Amino acid sequence: MAGIQKSSRKEVRRPVWAEISLGALAENFRAIRKFVNPPEEQRKTPRKILSIVKGNGYGHGGPQVAKALEKAGSDWFGVTCTEEGIAVREAGVRKPVLVLTSFWPGEESRLLEHRLTAVIHRCEQLKQLDSAAARIIAKKGGNQGRNRVSFHLKMDTGMNRLGIAPGDVECFASQLVKCKHLELGGVFTHFASSEVFTNTRVGEQTRQQEERFYAALNRLRALGIDPGIVHLANSAAIATRPETWADMVRPGVILYGYHPGYDPVERRQESEARLPLRPVMSLRTRIINIRSIPEGAGVGYNETFLAKRPSRIAVLAAGYGDGIHRSLGNRGSVLVRGSLAPIVGIISMDVTMIDVTDVADTAIGDVVTIYGSDGRHVRPANVIARSIATVTSDLLCAVSQRVPRVYSK
Ligand SMILES: Cc1ncc(COP(=O)(O)O)c(C=O)c1O
Repeated sequence: MAGIQKSSRKEVRRPVWAEISLGALAENFRAIRKFVNPPEEQRKTPRKILSIVKGNGYGHGGPQVAKALEKAGSDWFGVTCTEEGIAVREAGVRKPVLVLTSFWPGEESRLLEHRLTAVIHRCEQLKQLDSAAARIIAKKGGNQGRNRVSFHLKMDTGMNRLGIAPGDVECFASQLVKCKHLELGGVFTHFASSEVFTNTRVGEQTRQQEERFYAALNRLRALGIDPGIVHLANSAAIATRPETWADMVRPGVILYGYHPGYDPVERRQESEARLPLRPVMSLRTRIINIRSIPEGAGVGYNETFLAKRPSRIAVLAAGYGDGIHRSLGNRGSVLVRGSLAPIVGIISMDVTMIDVTDVADTAIGDVVTIYGSDGRHVRPANVIARSIATVTSDLLCAVSQRVPRVYSK
């Protein structure tokens, strides 16, 4: 805490910022890589890691985190679209980048020009991608010495969102043989409920998805098609379901320091003990005003907070326009001088009010941590997310563009 208070960082702007610890990010990455490569498995080649850096790196800055993760040893990267992939390439990242949500018709040439790896999620896309691959190979006089462009196939095994249905494997195979400029580099699926362990239909879903996926893979192999790199596991599956790790895993939220919202919630403690992580982002602001109000006075829009006692109310220079979730109004709390102070009233776009009556010596200029770590104190974003029935990624991605990211080693 004291370290932050005394910080010599000169702020010549509105005091709200997100501190991103690239050291914590690299540590989380190494912990995950070690976790999915247990020595007793005696794998000849280590299981690969595809780091998910979409959504601007879950709000941490996609290009910046991709660069740091490449240095830490990430084998692959996952972005959502061509634009995100280009931003990662422009940061100098050389490792393969998978464009998870595929391409919109017409976008495929740009995707390939930037050496991004396309995802096919509908059989009809093969022809489009093959034409774009033919053009890029002709233009470059061969694709780095190869005359085929690699892509990954997404299978929908139960989420009913994106991916070919297992029943379309034969159709996919028959169309693929017609594509002279493509090669299948990988096959994957995405889990809908890998964090759920209850005795319910949802709790059973991951196992069903796995069964469907491997059955479809076997049919693909029987048709003479090598699936390439096989990958399924997102964060919850990485942390809790070793049977899903296959050739490569795709960590998202755990890279950024948080276990997902397991059901039952007790799973979190077990998982945190097995795979300890450090929060990468700390969202901070400062107190810009303090006022004393009498008992019965209201605070903020619609007076949704009425003081039950004479109170000291501090105003923070950050609101929902910066990424403080509006539903934390009258529910959340923040770290100030090592203590938790409750958020009072409705959160405004640009400011948030907190009750500092019980926090001694608070003053204008004090640093306040919305979530993340503050010296030895931690305000975990996943605990906050759960308290307002959302997911950690929602909170992290919500940190808006006007909040500068400050990177540290
Ligand atoms: C295909 C795919 N894989 C992996 C992930 C990472 O998910 P998580 O943050 O739960 O690890 C995502 C994120 O939604 C995804 O879309």
